[in-house]
Amino acid sequence: MERSGFPPNRHKRNYLLQVRSMLQGMVGSILLAAIANSALADGHSKFPNSVHATKHMVAAANPLASQAGLGVLEAGGTAMDAAVAVQLVLNLVEPESSGIGGGAFMLYWDVSERKLLTYDGREKAPLSATPEYFMNDQGEPMKWSEAVTGGLSVGVPGTLKLLEVAHAEHGLKPWRSLVEPAITLSEAGFPVSEKLSASIARAADRGLTTFDAARNYFFNDDGSALAAGTVLKNPEFAATLTMIAEEGSAPMYTGELAASIVEAVKTETNTGEMTLEDLAAYEVIKREPVCFPYRAFEVCGMGPPTSGGLTMGQILTILSNFDLPSMGPSAEAWHLYSEAAKLAYADRGMYMGDSDFVDMPEGLLNAEYLASRAALIDPEKSMGKAEAGTPPWDEAMLRSPDTQLERPGTSHFSIVDRYGNMVSMTTTIESGFGSRVMVGGFLLNNELTDFSFRAERDGKPIANRVEGGKRPRSSMSPTIVFKDGRPVLLTGSPGGSRIINYVTQSVIAMLDWGMDPQDALNMGHVVNRNGATDLEEGTEAVELQAQLEALGHEVKIRGLNSGLHAIMIDVIDLYGAADPRRDGVALGR
Ligand code: GLY
Repeated sequence: MERSGFPPNRHKRNYLLQVRSMLQGMVGSILLAAIANSALADGHSKFPNSVHATKHMVAAANPLASQAGLGVLEAGGTAMDAAVAVQLVLNLVEPESSGIGGGAFMLYWDVSERKLLTYDGREKAPLSATPEYFMNDQGEPMKWSEAVTGGLSVGVPGTLKLLEVAHAEHGLKPWRSLVEPAITLSEAGFPVSEKLSASIARAADRGLTTFDAARNYFFNDDGSALAAGTVLKNPEFAATLTMIAEEGSAPMYTGELAASIVEAVKTETNTGEMTLEDLAAYEVIKREPVCFPYRAFEVCGMGPPTSGGLTMGQILTILSNFDLPSMGPSAEAWHLYSEAAKLAYADRGMYMGDSDFVDMPEGLLNAEYLASRAALIDPEKSMGKAEAGTPPWDEAMLRSPDTQLERPGTSHFSIVDRYGNMVSMTTTIESGFGSRVMVGGFLLNNELTDFSFRAERDGKPIANRVEGGKRPRSSMSPTIVFKDGRPVLLTGSPGGSRIINYVTQSVIAMLDWGMDPQDALNMGHVVNRNGATDLEEGTEAVELQAQLEALGHEVKIRGLNSGLHAIMIDVIDLYGAADPRRDGVALGR
């Protein structure tokens, strides 16, 4: 297939120019030059379409967030320090996707200890929640769209606590200095991007005008959505951040903000149950990463409560039974990819959830088991819908599949510092604008809708059912790939339950097909979640339709809005790439 990729994003270029002129006077010339150059890359010979650096780099979904991160790195901060600044600025400038009202997963490569750490800041259900949480008065599960708007869908947020805990362990710069860039921008204002403006307009009749705080912030007095280019100030968020700069996460978990959150979720319809005790009890969990071999590499991701690491592990391990590198991005390769994804998503639906609450098979990444799954793939014919397998485990037949699909209101960033520490973090408030409930200048998540609304089917429990204090299953897949014990690639994406497809493809494109990181992210997507094979409209991927249909695939052409932000590390060279479908840039020096 031709490698024309996603068409150039004209709006992004204009937005970058606006951001650059706004930053005149606020930052030094290195940063301005970096932002000017970032859309062009620097023509470095190995990967001419990616941004090249040798010292440090940040790739995030908005140039102001990347710039804040680069500023911290330029001042000698660690990747962890930069992550705090990037996340808080993203909260302001890409408010629909992530922030302190949501949850996140972070992978951190600690270079001095040569150790990969993971931090789980996933939201939690209130302790009072039961498996009937999303059932209506008729004993039927609510429709997803009915459950989103209001306090019911809001999980106890984890992102701020994650940043605080991880920064305490791996930060060099004072916490206050890392909150400062977001305070400054909240007070000075930032230009609304085309993406944010269009997202506001789309969400107008999907609950974003229901509550006063969000309506007043995102819409003009005449009810129209804020136009791209409008300079938006957020004094309420500046006040929240000022408290956080001084007192850390305490105001949000035990203080003034906690009380406001508990009050805010008591919406008239879809009333939330979160209490002060739920917030006070929230804890960030450090977990073992999920790592597995893939050809000459070791791929590491996040384990439960996200299904990301395990499902990617299943897809790639199944594909290691085929010679994908020699096939390139052909119909043959995409057929095998789609079939492997179907098999993995079938297991995901059957077995994966918060492993602190549900037992999960030990053998989900067992190589023999996955070789037996690979043997189900016919290179000449699609299998249709895949059934879950029986990985080595005593209880394998006792679950019922969950079909809940997460929506794409999420963001991913990748950071490398001058010391060699690295962050790969995916962060979310669930769907665009989360629950639409705004407090303290930021949005609260609707992450609880990532649970299965049904508790059981045919008398068998669903692993991802709601339970008090449980974390909903996620698809977020922050990833770090190693070769000979050294990190060689950071990647991750938003995209709801499609995240796993986007991130896995970025790994295959860069590692199996040797693609320039930016070309890999530009490539049109092919997605399968154990159903139809989706081909990304407006890209070269649609050219696969006839060949995949001839192999028996049901093909759908549709928009596939990833937000991949990747950094490839080649000894001392860093190559950064930002998804052309969003506003982001890679910046480095
Ligand atoms: N809400 C998106 C995810 O957690 O995967």
